[in-house]
Amino acid sequence: MIILGDSMLVNSKNMLEKARLGGYAIPHFNINNLEWAKYILEECEALKVPVILGVSEGAKRYMGGYHVISYFVQGLIKDLNLTIPVCLHLDHGSSVESCKEAIDAGFSSVMIDASKYSLEENIKMTQEVVTYAHPRGVTVEAELGRVGGEEDGMADAVYYAKLEECIFFSQQTGIDSLAPALGSVHGFYKGEPHLQFETMKAIRDKLSIPLVLHGGTGIPSDQIKKAISCGITKINVNTDLQSVWSNAVREYLDNDKLVYDPRKVIGSGERALKERIQEMVSMFGTR
Ligand code: 13P
Repeated sequence: MIILGDSMLVNSKNMLEKARLGGYAIPHFNINNLEWAKYILEECEALKVPVILGVSEGAKRYMGGYHVISYFVQGLIKDLNLTIPVCLHLDHGSSVESCKEAIDAGFSSVMIDASKYSLEENIKMTQEVVTYAHPRGVTVEAELGRVGGEEDGMADAVYYAKLEECIFFSQQTGIDSLAPALGSVHGFYKGEPHLQFETMKAIRDKLSIPLVLHGGTGIPSDQIKKAISCGITKINVNTDLQSVWSNAVREYLDNDKLVYDPRKVIGSGERALKERIQEMVSMFGTR
């Protein structure tokens, strides 16, 4: 078990609180491998902005496990001499066990996503995670309603979070941040997103904890800014960076049929990825 006190990581509490007071959002970028983490960290260090590295359970399986990720991220912070706050966060933890495993491996923040269960079950599971996480200095995010998208075969199903449930849920669980599903979807949108700004604002006015926007890909900049003005303080982005990176790598491979060095292939997406991070950070007002 890794004790967070010895860790190079920070939880999301201070960075999100500062963002909430400052009227900007902290970027949450999902990582897929070592290079991805390195590029994001390097760019955020260059921009001097705090960052949350998100790890889905699928990405965790792909990379080998929570320990692998926790160690290489902390190794990067040390070897790259980073000075920015870095939070390592489990994205959409599907069970209490999964959250505990990530915490034991040194993650500084977790999301328990029990939004597909009944409100009672969601509260119970979230309470269990909070009880385990808080004494260990780890912050907890939870979700209410349902973000649409392709995962779980959910297609475009979206269930909006309700104000009263958000209040009750956060009182019952003591979570540190809440992701109320209000019309955003994971992956690309078919047509324009329709975010429920009025409900977002109402939740912001009633809750003192930071609000999280999932499905940050494909939301026009004016809607992102409006969401931030309605209380969003953390924005999760995955597909956008994947797509930007893949396009750059595809172009590189199309132009060089002989290249075989994986460092060149993977690295050919670095510049595009970093440029996109810069744009996002400026859109989120983080910088
Ligand atoms: P996108 O893939 O739509 O950017 O969503 C990412 C996300 O919400 C991760 O939790």
